Amino acid sequence: MHTQRGAVTLVADAGNIQNVLLKDLNDQQRQCVTHTYLNNTLCIAGAGTGKTRVIAKRIAFIVAMGHSTDSILAVTFTTKGASELKERVASYIGSDANMILMGTFHSICLKLLRQFAYLLDGYTNQFNVFNPGNCKLVLEDVLLDTIKYADPRTINTYINQISLMKNKLITPDHYDSYVADNLEVNFTAHKNGKLLARVYRDYESSMRRQNVMDYDDLIINMIRALDIPVVYDYCRDRFKFLLIDESQDTNAAQFKLIEKMSGFNNIFLVGDTDQCIYEWRGARMENMFDFLKKYPDAITIKLEQNYRSTKTIVKASNTLIKNNRNRFDKTCFTENSTGERINLHTATNSFNEAEFVVNEIRKLANTGYEYKDIAVLYRVNALGSLFENELASKRIPHSVISESCSDTIDLNDSVKYSVDNDNTVKLQTVHSAKGLEYKIVFVIGLEENTFPCYNIDEKDAAAHMEEERRLLYVAITRCQEKLYLTRACKRMVAGAWRILKPSPFLAEIPHVLLRFV
Ligand SMILES: Nc1ncnc2c1ncn2[C@@H]1O[C@H](COP(=O)(O)OP(=O)(O)OP(=O)(O)O)[C@@H](O)[C@H]1O
Ligand SMILES: [Mg+2]
Repeated sequence: MHTQRGAVTLVADAGNIQNVLLKDLNDQQRQCVTHTYLNNTLCIAGAGTGKTRVIAKRIAFIVAMGHSTDSILAVTFTTKGASELKERVASYIGSDANMILMGTFHSICLKLLRQFAYLLDGYTNQFNVFNPGNCKLVLEDVLLDTIKYADPRTINTYINQISLMKNKLITPDHYDSYVADNLEVNFTAHKNGKLLARVYRDYESSMRRQNVMDYDDLIINMIRALDIPVVYDYCRDRFKFLLIDESQDTNAAQFKLIEKMSGFNNIFLVGDTDQCIYEWRGARMENMFDFLKKYPDAITIKLEQNYRSTKTIVKASNTLIKNNRNRFDKTCFTENSTGERINLHTATNSFNEAEFVVNEIRKLANTGYEYKDIAVLYRVNALGSLFENELASKRIPHSVISESCSDTIDLNDSVKYSVDNDNTVKLQTVHSAKGLEYKIVFVIGLEENTFPCYNIDEKDAAAHMEEERRLLYVAITRCQEKLYLTRACKRMVAGAWRILKPSPFLAEIPHVLLRFV
């Protein structure tokens, strides 16, 4: 008996399931959606191969098979990703999609902790959540108490380090032994592990005293809550299907959470190791392989057919990413057209670069492209302002997509993104463009120490280059049709011109795929 609303329509008509959900899927995609829906599954797949599409269809399929919408938990990387997923699922099963718990790790944990936080030491269900700005104020007080000074740099160093520790599930009590075991720990006050442990501990107790959680606490506290039988039983009895997109960027804490919530043993983990771009925030692409160790019976499905981009773009991105040594081998192909060559522009200086890009945007708009088809992607936020000014002065509608932690948390649980629907050129960092696609993409600032950006944390040089290369891979693979790579020979940095060499990545893109414009 299928009592689920919405499901009834589809379950009643098996032919309809076939038509609606299984059309426009290749064999591997179809396997993702159907055959394995009662198993642990790892879907490891390149950019634009339909990962997000199969998640949406799999959710709809589960409902269509008569399972309750309450039994599904789907995790996306951003709140915007969640709203898009909701829309896609709704297009298959209608408004029942609203009853499915879909969101980022943060927003899902927030929702569950509103039910269960009363079981944790020091919290009520009405706990507050502090954004990073508020957390810094708490830390400032702690630092003034312990080391008697709290300049913004010190505050940042400590807050980042505490966050990293939390995401690695290292408590203040464990910090000392962690430092001893991990000599690569990157913290200037490294020798001062004990001091950090003390600051971390004081910060924790201050937050708890105020009935307040930071974003990381949402995950950690949910993990703690799952040690309590009523919480564990509730989740195990409720969530029969877990689906996780962008799993290459989950950190240790998030992975632990997945494990703890997998009572029914049915996890669908989707990701692309080549798109792991949050290592600096504790992301571990290894989680995907650990999943296979943890669940040896899990089925692995590879998706390699790209549906997004031209052959030229797919080839360029394949060639680029093959320079990474630390990767899971896969090669994307596409049946899309060859498309045009990749446009490479070298500007005399950064102002000329912005002028060039905006001129091209004007020309493209005159040839029938809409503004919303176009994105300008950069490595760090600061690079966007020249383009913003130039677009404003030419009266071209544009929006800057800000990248902040709030992208992964939606405290009001109301989805407020509308930028996708508006007809503007998007200016955004590569990080914030994850999962998105545009007909036309400009990747700007392809210079040494700009993209790849300067190794500010002095992390292992090879690992740094590999993460930067993955970022460029993400940038390039956002593009469907026309890709532009630009660089400036000099750029104004802190009031002085700085001469810049081309990005070493430019030499990794086959020359025959380029057109010099
Ligand atoms: N079988 C298919 N037939 C036609 N179009 C498809 C098919 N599979 C996926 N697509 C389209 O290809 C594009 C990329 O799909 P999707 O965004 O799901 O890929 P992805 O693997 O999640 O990409 P990313 O790695 O960037 O997150 C979308 O426009 C999607 O609608
Ligand atoms: Mg995706």
